[in-house]
Formats: sequence, structure tokens, C-alpha cells
Amino acid sequence: MSNQTLRPVAIAGTGSYLPEKVLTNADLQRMVETSDEWITERTGIKERRIAAKHEATSDLAIAAGREALANAGVEAADLDLIIVATVTPDMAFPATACFVQKALGAPKATCFDVSAACSGFLYGMELARQFIATGSAERALVIGADKLSAIIDWTDRNTCVLFGDGAGAAVLQPAGEGSGEILSAYSGSNGNLDEILNVPGGGSRNPLTPETIGGKSNTMKMAGREVYRHAVQTMMSATKEAIARAGLTPDDIECFIPHQANLRIIETIADKLHIPMERFFVNLQAYGNTSAAAVAIALDEAQRSGRIKRGDHILMVVFGGGLTWAS
Ligand code: UT7
Repeated sequence: MSNQTLRPVAIAGTGSYLPEKVLTNADLQRMVETSDEWITERTGIKERRIAAKHEATSDLAIAAGREALANAGVEAADLDLIIVATVTPDMAFPATACFVQKALGAPKATCFDVSAACSGFLYGMELARQFIATGSAERALVIGADKLSAIIDWTDRNTCVLFGDGAGAAVLQPAGEGSGEILSAYSGSNGNLDEILNVPGGGSRNPLTPETIGGKSNTMKMAGREVYRHAVQTMMSATKEAIARAGLTPDDIECFIPHQANLRIIETIADKLHIPMERFFVNLQAYGNTSAAAVAIALDEAQRSGRIKRGDHILMVVFGGGLTWAS
């Protein structure tokens, strides 16, 4: 299909949901050998939200999805597509998106999950954009949702201080008169670096057994420094690429919404690209790294707080296990 027949696509509304329970750095100090000073200096994180026992990833996703639909003025019954980006699905199958469909009442929607770790929300957005641009769908709900607390080793200080639970969502539809528009997208992956960030157990390679559980291989493993280095490199190049593809320059971007993993990663990117930190939206101090939800929650908060206004150019950029990245 030629580009001329593709329809421009807009974000019609956003939503987010954060569980009530707050876990502070002081709380973590009582759980592992760490300190508020270390966590704040090395990451910028002060607290994170933890889902209740009875809350699964779909519960977070449903709440964020409801808010996005209300914000967009779109009925669930009119959705043609629901995509949930997550690495913590409720079950191996059905897809978490099917649970969202059931709760929201969206009988027309095709529903599936995307597995791209922290990059999943932008992978899902691009998929939805393609469905709508080609005319295969009119209205899509894309949700980034993760309950990372379920796959964290709460005795491993290298990882447990970094992450939190949450969900963010966006409704996409054809761009209308005067609405915004997704100007460009870019993504990439590097499966050769699978081992620096993964959950090795619990899948078909190492199914759940008393041994895998005892060895905690069903929890997240991360080579922090390696991941950090690749995060800076790939988020910088992805930022430049999406801006170039839109025919813009970094100066044209009023608001940068990066993956919320570590304040130092964001500051390094800002410094290297000569972009003032004021133009970066940061909320990781309150939520930590919520994986696929992070950039989606940030987009919603930036919108609701008035940080982004009609006519602004926004750049979202993400990075995660796989490795994966997108902008
Ligand atoms: O969504 C994508 C996924 N993840 C990321 O983007 C994370 C990327 N990586 C990072 O953000 C950083 O590498 C970390 C925050 C994970 C770690 O910061 P760092 O400056 O790279 O520290 P490090 O791993 O080099 O560790 C420095 C020291 C070590 O002690 P020694 O070996 O120097 O004695 C660690 O054992 O800090 C120690 N350490 C801690 N100390 C107190 C590691 N975690 C902690 C902790 N509290 N929680």
C-alpha cells in the first residue's frame, strides 16, 4: 500500500492507574542492605507503588483503560482493537488484553498482548497506528501495564529498589480536523543481549518447579551497569531517529517523555543531546520503573498537569529487556 492511502492517526485520550500502597526508600532500608541516600543518588527514585495481593496486571490495565476511554470520549463498545503491553500477564494465556475486553465490554475488539518489556507501550502504539492507518481498525486502546512486584526478588538489592507497579493507557483513532497526529515512529531490538535483563525461569525453557522457585530463577535478573550503558546509547539514537523521521530537530520538541528507569540515564541523554532538563518530563521519583507502564503514565500525567499543550511536539522514547527500544 502506498503511503498516500495511509490515514494520519491521533492520540484521542490518555489514562493511568497507580496502586494505593506506597513503598518508600525508608521501607526498603528495613528489607535489604540499602539506604535512601544510595537509591536517591544512583536513581532519583524516592518511592514506588505496589499492587495489592488481589490486584493482577489486568486490574491495573482496566482502570487505566477506563480513564483513557473517558478522557477520549470513546465507548468501549466502539473499540476495534485492545493491545496490552506487559511482561507480567495475569496468566500464560488468555492474553491480558482479553481480560480487559471482558471487563470493559468491548465485543468488537481484537485483543492481544505485546511482549517487549519496558518498550512494550510504544511497540503497541505503533501496531495500533498501523491498524488504524491502513483502515483495519477505527479505534484502538493501547495499555502498558506491569505488576513487576510479582517477579522481583525482594532480597536482591540490585533490582528490588528500582521497580514499581502501574498502568498507563492511550486511545488511538484517525486524526481529525485540528487534532494532534503521530508524526513518526522508530523501533529496534537486539536479541543477542537477552542475558543482561531477563526472567530466566517460569517459561517453557525452565518451567516452574520447586527447584526453579527455590533458585529464584522466576524473578528478574539484571546486569545493571551493562543495561545502563545500552539504555543511554539506544535511547539517544532512537530520540534522534524519530525526530529526524518527523522532519524536525530537537529544538522543535517542547516535551521529551523518556522511559522512567533512572534519573541519571535521562540527565546523561539530555546532556549529550544538549537539551535542557526542563524539557524532560520526569515522574520516576514517585513511581520507580514501572516497565511497560512508565512512559504511558508519564504521558497521561504530562497531559493532565498541563505540562503539554495543544500544538506541542512530544517525543516519547523507551528502552527495555530483549533488548528492545522505540521512539
Ligand atoms: O528498564 C530498563 C531496566 N533497567 C535499567 O534501566 C537500569 C539500568 N541500570 C541502572 O540504573 C544502574 O546501573 C543501577 C541503578 C542499577 C546501579 O547503579 P550503578 O551506579 O551502576 O551501581 P553498580 O551496579 O555499579 O553498583 C555500585 C555499588 C556496588 O557495590 P560495590 O561492588 O561497588 O561494593 C553494588 O553492590 O553499589 C552496590 N549496590 C547497592 N548499594 C546500596 C547495588 N545496589 C545497591 C542498593 N543499595 N540498592
